[in-house]
Amino acid sequence: MDLEEIKQQFIDALSKVGSEKDLAELEVEFLGRKGKLTTVLKGLSDLTIVEKKRIGGAANELKEFIAEEFRIKNLEFRMKKWELIGEQEKQDINSIIPDSRFQIPPSTLGHIHPISNFLFKINRVFEEMEYEVVDGYEIETDYYNFTALGTHLDHPARDEQDTFYIKDLEHPDKKDLLLRTQTSAMQVRYMKKHPLPIKIIIPGKTYRRDNDATHSPMFHQFEGLVVGEGITLGDLKSTLMIAMKKLLGENTKIRFRSSYFPFVEPGLEVDVTCAICKGSGCNVCKNTGWLELLGAGMVHPDVLKAGGIDSEKYSGFAFGTGVERMVMVKHAIPSLKLLYENDIRFLEQF
Ligand code: PHE
Repeated sequence: MDLEEIKQQFIDALSKVGSEKDLAELEVEFLGRKGKLTTVLKGLSDLTIVEKKRIGGAANELKEFIAEEFRIKNLEFRMKKWELIGEQEKQDINSIIPDSRFQIPPSTLGHIHPISNFLFKINRVFEEMEYEVVDGYEIETDYYNFTALGTHLDHPARDEQDTFYIKDLEHPDKKDLLLRTQTSAMQVRYMKKHPLPIKIIIPGKTYRRDNDATHSPMFHQFEGLVVGEGITLGDLKSTLMIAMKKLLGENTKIRFRSSYFPFVEPGLEVDVTCAICKGSGCNVCKNTGWLELLGAGMVHPDVLKAGGIDSEKYSGFAFGTGVERMVMVKHAIPSLKLLYENDIRFLEQF
């Protein structure tokens, strides 16, 4: 029997499994000592080396596939059991509580947290624009988080009051490891390891020693980085225009103001139309109709050099912003803390 046939048979049989007993029987039928797949694997010894490699590889892949499906199905059965036990317990308890106000309410299904949801949306929007989504490290070195990005040794961001440093037990005097304060820390790391052109988005957690109504010690950022031949400020502007419309609404406009970040030149602050008053002016945007949302700019030649890229030949742009702030702007949420308190009455609104 060929492998495709076995796979199809297995998929059909699995869809008909109704109990744990059925599942155990199916496991014997396919993976048991005389099982269908086991027979194929045993038959390999009669084949030539070339065939052994070809069929053996595919057969092992199928074996892994089948084993994984068994694991998943088993888990489903176990979860069902717990659910049933939970329901029964609840009913037992409720039956001895006469006052319905104190009874355990029926279970309700939760949903994805607004921050995670927005992170997924960011990934989707940029994937549509052919960006690759890249994971970064939350524990970084001082070099990638600061030095490689042109942040001087005496810059206030490096201060212990702003950054969480991690004690390196082997070198207790060295302040080298830290919780990244910005996703920009991935820029040089990525450039060093990957060929051009680079077109990536880096979403993730970032950390700063801040804790008040508008700051949390852990928050999320996302970073965009594009490097290649002939990349211009115009590319940055059109990219952000398209992305912000998709993320915040079709009528969103953006504007650039010059600003300073040590790793971009020129550096820009990017404002978007206030999502609350739609640009007509309100107290959230201090009657300007605009909200300051992103940092951006053309990648500084020194940063390209640190990433091993010829800054005469190539150019790039970068942008970054806080995810919480975008979620707050989008849904007119007045306080950052609401996003972390996990109060059901708040979360149910999304
Ligand atoms: N990393 C900067 C911040 O956290 C934002 C930024 C990213 C600025 C990329 C310019 C380019 O404030």
